Amino acid sequence: MALVVRPSRIHAAGVFTTTPVRKGTRIVEYCGPRITPEEADRLYTGAPRTYLYGLDDGKTVIDGHGIGAYLNHSCDPNCEVDEIKNRAFIFALRDIGAGEELLWDYNLYDDDDPAPCHCGSPKCRGTMYSREWMAKLRRKAAKKKAKSKKQSEPQSA
Ligand SMILES: C[S@@+](CC[C@H](N)C(=O)[O-])C[C@H]1O[C@@H](n2cnc3c(N)ncnc32)[C@H](O)[C@@H]1O
Ligand SMILES: [Zn+2]
Repeated sequence: MALVVRPSRIHAAGVFTTTPVRKGTRIVEYCGPRITPEEADRLYTGAPRTYLYGLDDGKTVIDGHGIGAYLNHSCDPNCEVDEIKNRAFIFALRDIGAGEELLWDYNLYDDDDPAPCHCGSPKCRGTMYSREWMAKLRRKAAKKKAKSKKQSEPQSA
């Protein structure tokens, strides 16, 4: 399998395979220095793009370096990231043809900066955040709205 980084119609540069990839293939590791979520916030809050991957342990973030960190996001991905022994690898979710861009669903969370998605898929949810996280943000906004409405209502004696 040969991977190349080249311009993507989704965003800047993306990763493409020049040969077919079979479903289930372990494609590449998401490598990079390991930092804490606090360090990641300190280094990258407000950055227009990041290369971060949060491990399931909730206390480790990989500050991606190398080709594995260059995959763009899609709401209808052909890859996924799975962890094996505390390391993150990109796997093919289906058979992928030569020339296709490799894409995974970032399912972002823990932030409320806008993260609009330009994947172009008919299944696009319009954001790179996960459905669960978007639902949480909507609940938070509704609570805030209800609270400010209550505060602006005249108090009865
Ligand atoms: C890991 S980088 C991916 C590589 C990036 N395209 C580059 O050229 O450096 C992640 C960043 O790419 C951008 N990105 C990736 N997928 C995207 C998408 N579907 N829609 C909009 N921006 C996307 C976002 O800015 C995100 O923070
Ligand atoms: Zn999308």
